[in-house]
Amino acid sequence: MIRAQFQSWDIRNQPVLVRADLNVPLHNNKIISDFKLKAFEPTLQELLKQQATIIIATHIGNPSEHHAALSTQLLMPWFSDRGYSVSFAPDIATVQTLSQNNIILLENLRFFAGEKEQSTYFAHTLAKLGNYYINDAFGVLHRSDASVTQVPSLFAVDRRSCGLLVEKELRMLTGIRTAPQRPYVCILGGGKPETKLPLLTHLLPLVDTMVVLPALSNTYCTALQQPVGKSIICKELVAECLQNLRTDFDAIILPVDYQVTSKTVSDSARIVAAIDVQDDDIIIAVGPKTLALVQAITHQAGTIVINGLPGFYEFEHTLDSAKALLTSITQSTAHTIVCGSDSIALAEKYNFLPQFTYASTGGGATLAYLAGQILPGLHYL
Ligand code: 3PG
Repeated sequence: MIRAQFQSWDIRNQPVLVRADLNVPLHNNKIISDFKLKAFEPTLQELLKQQATIIIATHIGNPSEHHAALSTQLLMPWFSDRGYSVSFAPDIATVQTLSQNNIILLENLRFFAGEKEQSTYFAHTLAKLGNYYINDAFGVLHRSDASVTQVPSLFAVDRRSCGLLVEKELRMLTGIRTAPQRPYVCILGGGKPETKLPLLTHLLPLVDTMVVLPALSNTYCTALQQPVGKSIICKELVAECLQNLRTDFDAIILPVDYQVTSKTVSDSARIVAAIDVQDDDIIIAVGPKTLALVQAITHQAGTIVINGLPGFYEFEHTLDSAKALLTSITQSTAHTIVCGSDSIALAEKYNFLPQFTYASTGGGATLAYLAGQILPGLHYL
């Protein structure tokens, strides 16, 4: 098991570069859920206790250039409200010139092309900021971005470590990865189909039942030549979904009815059978027959992992099926794990979060770890 080593470092007044995952959901420039920020606090507090100079590097969203609505500057009020003195560094090159605050927050790493392109120059520029490196960004360990793989490789073994959150996530998830209580049920939906559909394929042989919800289910329904209207699909993965349906048909549960709208998400919604989705419809959530099906499955389950609830946080009329799913999952006697910031935000919104056995900050990273994959970011930790 990987353990955090940094507690024994002599880092008083030393700059420590910390890769965190502070990719919190935002709406109108406000933080919807601070779950990831709070999950990072144990590492932050420990570094403050050690009187280190803490340089925090994170991404928000997936921008390919500067985008004000995804700036890490939006996190600054959260830190100051909690009494942390933090300086904001809009450009990595300006970090040296900042005031004496002992915490420095770098601008969104994904505003710099080198992060995703894994540029050696960018990795060296980042690495120069610290004499030590900590990775506490569990949610991004499945990526090979510069700050996750190349930057730690530039530090000596005794100057790089995982943080306390990464240590905790691995400890909490390893039992399910190695010996889940059966029946093992995975409920996957939400966005990022290009990341999550391949992970679903890897999880499929490990679980007893895989419930596929919108928007991921749209690509499966397309593989079955079922209509999905104007809903998002991932064309490149239709063939992979079809192959999964051929080999694991009995394990895959797809929605039998949907909540749809005809123009935009904010329009009034109606319930239709899955085979009756019209060309102009947008699938936004699932209907009562699908919920009854999932409820019967969760009732019998030994382990339930949920990532990607249906509906949209800001649109209350789209969230009935998410609430019903949260109710049936948390009423089950199974070991229950909710993962990913959007699902956690919804569970928080309706006060379901404390009823889960565990809430994991990772989305794709948690699924990749549970699927038995080697996480690139763990290699140097
Ligand atoms: C997450 O929210 O899952 C993590 O922050 C990783 O984000 P990414 O999928 O955009 O890499």
